[in-house]
Amino acid sequence: MHPLLARQLKRYFKAGAPTDAAFTAFVQAVSDAYRASDDDSALLEHSLKLASAELEERYHTLQKDIAERERVQGERDAFFRASPDMLSVIDRDLRIVLANPSWQRVLGYDPAGLVGANFLDTIHPEDVSRITGGAQSLVEQTKAGVEQATVRDFEFRQRTASGEWRTISAAATIDGQRGLFFAVGRDVTSQRSMARELEQTHRLEAVGQLAAGMAHEINTPIQYVGDNVQFAGDGFESLDEYLQAVDQVLQPQQRAALKPAMAKADLEYLKEELPRSLSEAKDGVRRVAELVRALKEFAHPDQGEKSHADINKALERALIMARGELRHVTRVETQFGELPPLRCHIGSLSQVFLNLLVNAAHAVEERTAKQGVAMADHRVTVRTRLDGDDVVISITDTGCGIPANIRERIFEPFFTTKPMGKGSGQGLPLVRNVVIQKHGGRVEVESEVNVGTTFTLRLPLESSSQVGKAA
Ligand SMILES: Nc1ncnc2c1ncn2[C@@H]1O[C@H](COP(=O)(O)OP(=O)(O)O)[C@@H](O)[C@H]1O
Ligand SMILES: [Mg+2]
Repeated sequence: MHPLLARQLKRYFKAGAPTDAAFTAFVQAVSDAYRASDDDSALLEHSLKLASAELEERYHTLQKDIAERERVQGERDAFFRASPDMLSVIDRDLRIVLANPSWQRVLGYDPAGLVGANFLDTIHPEDVSRITGGAQSLVEQTKAGVEQATVRDFEFRQRTASGEWRTISAAATIDGQRGLFFAVGRDVTSQRSMARELEQTHRLEAVGQLAAGMAHEINTPIQYVGDNVQFAGDGFESLDEYLQAVDQVLQPQQRAALKPAMAKADLEYLKEELPRSLSEAKDGVRRVAELVRALKEFAHPDQGEKSHADINKALERALIMARGELRHVTRVETQFGELPPLRCHIGSLSQVFLNLLVNAAHAVEERTAKQGVAMADHRVTVRTRLDGDDVVISITDTGCGIPANIRERIFEPFFTTKPMGKGSGQGLPLVRNVVIQKHGGRVEVESEVNVGTTFTLRLPLESSSQVGKAA
């Protein structure tokens, strides 16, 4: 009998429960019902237990899933934030939807501030069509059914927050469903400028060789042109003397008979003009010869070793080479002090001088263009002196001057304020490299806007005793 029923019977029938068959059968049936109910609740309990265990397990897996998803998402975010390349999500109208912090690192823009801005706002006007072309190509590729349409290696110039231009190489893809472009941009400015620098050096080398070769070739013919002009001049003098002697012995009627012939030959005029034109020709030839010599020495590559050279002479040659650039400057003055020979790489130094002279000529032209200062009022002065153990060279111009805000930058490679074709920004870097690195010297700049500029080079005499011996 079910124990609960037994206890209830005992409590109810204190004197003892009835024993008749009908009652006994009834009690048995109740007991069975009790037991069946017990079994049911046990079963229920059991299945509840099972269900909750299962639920718990599911909850755990779900939590694990969420943690995993958060981890992946976190890594993705970290990657987006840490990527050294600029990552951007851009909409169909080329507005920036999302930008990563590399925008700050590379170009100086706060990525949050970029959201909503037009991507083209920072692009160089000449390069805008490359971006719109790239976007167009992506849209067309998608229309043509290309899966994962991409454009790669398209380059453009982009402005930094401080107004400089950087060269960016980009790749982009399109998400047609969301109507978004995903772009990766990398700053390749230094690679590109290195390549350009190399190219420039090669070109300069080639031009130098060519110039030296041509100078060599011109040397001989110009020499005999010079000799022949000299010969013609001397010959004419002798002829003239002879004609005078003839004139003296002529009878008056003979002289009269010769008159028409003399008039036809324009003899009086020839006697005046021929010597002058021959002397002009001689002057021209002398200048060509000078230029050729300067070119030859200028283009002469520096051998590994330094050798003794006359700085004043080198400056004179540089002035000859710069004559074309300086032709509008009426007053080019030299104030040369006495200098001992300097052990140096004279070829490189000559290029330094030439660069400074050309800069001076440009500065003067610019001030004239801007302020209308007459060219005749300009002056370029080249001075040299010995100061203790230093050879000091200064080049002063009355040009536009260098504004304070760019004074720090003029020695940077490729920094130029001049239009394309006129400036390459490689003059002053060369000056600094040659003077400081190759000769242990110093470069000083003094400048006042709309007054002028002086570049001063100090080159140490390496060892005065050695120089004394050589001198
Ligand atoms: N004598 C000068 N007067 C004024 N500005 C100068 C002078 N020399 C150099 N600069 C400035 O420095 C810049 C860099 O000079 P440089 O390296 O020779 O390159 P580039 O002459 O090709 O521009 C010039 O563009 C100019 O702005
Ligand atoms: Mg220059």
